[in-house]
Amino acid sequence: MGHGSRKEVKKLLKGGGLTVDGTIVKDGKVQVNPEEDIIEIYGERVEYKPYIYFMMNKPKGVISATEDIAERTVVDLLHTDDAIYEPFPVGRLDKDTTGFMLLTNDGKLAHQLTSPKKKVDKMYRVHIEKVLSAEEEGLLQNGVTLEDGYVTKPAKLEYIDDKNRTVVHLTITEGKFHQVKRMFLAVDNKVVALKRERIGPIDLDPTLLPGEYRELTEEEVELLRNSK
Ligand code: URA
Repeated sequence: MGHGSRKEVKKLLKGGGLTVDGTIVKDGKVQVNPEEDIIEIYGERVEYKPYIYFMMNKPKGVISATEDIAERTVVDLLHTDDAIYEPFPVGRLDKDTTGFMLLTNDGKLAHQLTSPKKKVDKMYRVHIEKVLSAEEEGLLQNGVTLEDGYVTKPAKLEYIDDKNRTVVHLTITEGKFHQVKRMFLAVDNKVVALKRERIGPIDLDPTLLPGEYRELTEEEVELLRNSK
């Protein structure tokens, strides 16, 4: 749980720094029940968290990877106390895309949320270059042919503010490379700003400034687990 390497933990045990239910345990082979036993290091309770889930408001200019030799990544934005759980970003957002990035070390949930079979909704706020015609709206919603011949699955297009028809909410269930940008290119338009605002049933917390993040609540994790 982030208290050191095996070697360091062995040393800690030898030094008598660890107790299980109040008794010093020096033997690393002793079996414990992490759910029930009280494990303390120098009197401080060790919190057992098998998995961790963070909701980040990804800022522009960072890439959704765990590490990169040249670019700053979403994982670089985590505090060291949080990075010890080794979370990774679920799915991808482009370098210039902002908004909801989920980071977790729960591979099963990550797979569930990105699997094309599960069809989990992702809602984006999209600023576009020009107003869409009714025909273009229909194409985007029913399926548009991308430049490589791929026909997109049905999507939902909504206007957020009737007075500004160049900002829309687009909800898609797939995650093809640069999908939103390519969908608008396919109707001869251009995305000028892109922000993911929802994944499945969970909205991006509006109090998170770009670059900020928080842990998901247990209820939010359950909702994500139960999303289609
Ligand atoms: N679609 C895109 O084009 N870019 C993103 O970052 C996400 C969806």
